[in-house]
Amino acid sequence: MSSVSSSTSVSRLSAAPARGVEVRPLSPALGAEIHGVDLTRPIDDATFAVIADAWREYLVILFRDQVLSEDDQVRFAQRFGALQGRPRPASMRAETAVKHPEIMLVSNIRENGKPIGSLPDGEMQFHSDMCYIEKPAKGTFLYAIEIPSIGGDTHFLNMYDAYDSLPADVKAKINDRKAVNVFQYGSTSREGNNPNFDEHPHYTHPMVRTHPDSGRKALFVNRLMTWSVEGMDEAESAALLDRLFDHIEQPKFIYEHKWRVGDLLLWDNRCTLHARTDFSDKERRLLRRCVIQGDKPY
Ligand code: SIN
Repeated sequence: MSSVSSSTSVSRLSAAPARGVEVRPLSPALGAEIHGVDLTRPIDDATFAVIADAWREYLVILFRDQVLSEDDQVRFAQRFGALQGRPRPASMRAETAVKHPEIMLVSNIRENGKPIGSLPDGEMQFHSDMCYIEKPAKGTFLYAIEIPSIGGDTHFLNMYDAYDSLPADVKAKINDRKAVNVFQYGSTSREGNNPNFDEHPHYTHPMVRTHPDSGRKALFVNRLMTWSVEGMDEAESAALLDRLFDHIEQPKFIYEHKWRVGDLLLWDNRCTLHARTDFSDKERRLLRRCVIQGDKPY
């Protein structure tokens, strides 16, 4: 790891500064980089408090220049909660080279023509991980092992700000509404997703959820996986969702992350969305992902 200074530069945090740890915001919308933490080593309580506090405040946390084994990543993730099992049936998974069954490889690398991981290719629209199950993932930990020279960036979106900035009449329309979320594994766009509810996992959640830690309201709909609004006819539901998606996906709510090998990103699926930009199929991309269990949104 690179050397770091010994102050905490962010005054918005409430946890006491841990020696050698610095938190630096990444964009006006969301995201902060934490310097001075080597995630292969035990993390004392004071340092963990700064990380947890920064995560609550900035929603997406970046650690650079990490050299992490699968065990290191899992150990760090488990400080935040129990690992979430993977809903995708094992028979549908190609990857064999993982030690922990909860680890997913996000990769376009193919062996014998078959992807070694999941979510292999190209652009992916905004979504929240596992919003199509009863208790969607609380946080996701994604670690970069191989990265293309151009593209394959991950964009993050602040769903507190997206909600707060909605006009009052739209808030009134959605505050007590639910919408159904569905995911056909492997789809990367709304057009490729499939609302055949007999075949694909789906769950109906509030369109606006209250974050259990901050008590703040966040929008909980996304272009890739939110299919329709409960209690509305198809045209009304489509018009409302389109309006929400266009509002949500404004640059002012977004942090664009350009990956470097050794980056570990942690994001909060309860108040952010993420999307991936396109990249060449001639270049390799390999990241290691695990998620921690969440609660039923309310
Ligand atoms: C994901 O949605 O978990 C994958 C994001 C990415 O590949 O950048």
